Amino acid sequence: MDIKTRILKELKNTDTYVSGQDICEKCGVSRTAVWKVINQLKNEGYEIDSVTNKGYKILETPDILSKSEIESVIEDGSIVKDIIYFDETDSTNTRAKLLGEEGAVSGTLVVADCQNMGKGRRGRSFSSPAGQSIYMTLLLRPDTSPSKASMITILSAMAVRTALSEVCGIEGLIKWPNDIVADGRKLCGILTEMSAELTKINYVVVGIGINVNNEKMPEDIEKIAVSARMLTGKKQKRSLIIGSVCKWFSIYYNKFIETSDLSLLKDEYNRYLIHMNKEVEIIRDNEKYRAKSLGLADDGELLIEKDGKPETVMSGEVSVRGVYGYV
Ligand code: BTN
Repeated sequence: MDIKTRILKELKNTDTYVSGQDICEKCGVSRTAVWKVINQLKNEGYEIDSVTNKGYKILETPDILSKSEIESVIEDGSIVKDIIYFDETDSTNTRAKLLGEEGAVSGTLVVADCQNMGKGRRGRSFSSPAGQSIYMTLLLRPDTSPSKASMITILSAMAVRTALSEVCGIEGLIKWPNDIVADGRKLCGILTEMSAELTKINYVVVGIGINVNNEKMPEDIEKIAVSARMLTGKKQKRSLIIGSVCKWFSIYYNKFIETSDLSLLKDEYNRYLIHMNKEVEIIRDNEKYRAKSLGLADDGELLIEKDGKPETVMSGEVSVRGVYGYV
């Protein structure tokens, strides 16, 4: 961890003033070095009060993203082991895949303030303007068979849902496999991509896009998309949401890796499944049919009842729509 992040962590750790001397001792640097970092943080937009004989206190953390800001919200013991931050990039998934090819560690987190080639599922593009939303991708190297990779998608939806509840008080629901929906509109989309051999995963990248501070959504998607700010009437701090997503992802992922079994998490997932026990429309290639959604199956598939018989549908194979519109 670099010196800027350590000082930021010290300042965020408390509600009171931290003396310059304490920071010097804890971080093993000179008074001048501390003073320089404090000025740098102020220039980035942090409001820091400095009082002689008392020290420094953070009054306001702006909604900015930087490597130090993100690192300062990642808890000890997290699965996040490295952070790569871009003010602008093509797509955090593309970056994470390149890093995966180059041997980056499992737990590399790629975040961007803006993407100029954001990708959605089914080859769609994902609009990714600067300064508003979260575009993050986690690179993982799970020691499980490729057939279990879709479960990681399920875990990520649970992590985002819980984080949005914890940080913003939004009680979103999950649209299988991994959209987060609130007020009948989409708040988050997740794109999971994998590189694997027949029996071994090389890496998985989990790309998460959350609409956070958009005041309104572009006209073409305003009926189907919503942001955290639109739902709460408040500007949110993106770094806090990222920190919470990483915290909950670590909890769910470790649970899954220990057992390679989703059944432990199935009940929780189904509790938040928007179409649990409801009629849904399954769209598969050129085929469209109605069925009853019975919730998550053990392997991350969706259990449905079609013409009175149980069946499973696999993620990536179908699109599930509520019969009354987007949800
Ligand atoms: C979807 O709903 O279609 C999935 C959208 C996934 C968007 C995220 S934003 C971060 C990561 N980088 C990308 O290019 N896509 C994912």
